[in-house]
Amino acid sequence: MKIDIIGFRLPTATPDPTRHPSCGWVAICNDKEIGWCNMTFLPNNVLKLEDAFIHPDYRGKGIYKQLWNKRYDYIQEHFSNYKLIAYCKPTTLEFYKKQGFIVKETITLVEKPA
Ligand SMILES: CC(C)(COP(=O)(O)OP(=O)(O)OC[C@H]1O[C@@H](n2cnc3c(N)ncnc32)[C@H](O)[C@@H]1OP(=O)(O)O)[C@@H](O)C(=O)NCCC(=O)NCCS
Repeated sequence: MKIDIIGFRLPTATPDPTRHPSCGWVAICNDKEIGWCNMTFLPNNVLKLEDAFIHPDYRGKGIYKQLWNKRYDYIQEHFSNYKLIAYCKPTTLEFYKKQGFIVKETITLVEKPA
């Protein structure tokens, strides 16, 4: 299975990065979008890693890891002085811990039905 990973709105690809505080990477297989991950620039040299998604038919094949590594390599090359944060679901928490992230706080989703 050939997967291409393509960046979009990367600060290094736009003449005015301040207009695009979010950017990301998309995984393409057979001309179809099958997954993505994003990141957002926050104040004080902080980067928020976010919005990981892999189409259910393509899960468990290492595609998220490919996307994650592509993003991480880009950060190391261009923004290695930035602190990285992410709000993790149980699906990604252990993976983040393996990459050296530490748990700072646990957040609870609340809702009020209409
Ligand atoms: C979570 C998700 C992005 C993983 O994508 P994937 O391509 O199947 O993941 P990979 O095959 O690249 O696996 C990467 C790592 O995550 C682990 N992992 C994958 N799915 C997992 C799950 N459901 N629960 C726990 N760990 C999981 C793998 O074991 C692997 O760990 P390893 O490197 O230690 O072996 C995908 O299941 C998804 O889109 N889920 C719904 C949305 C979601 O939960 N997004 C993340 C939070 S915003």
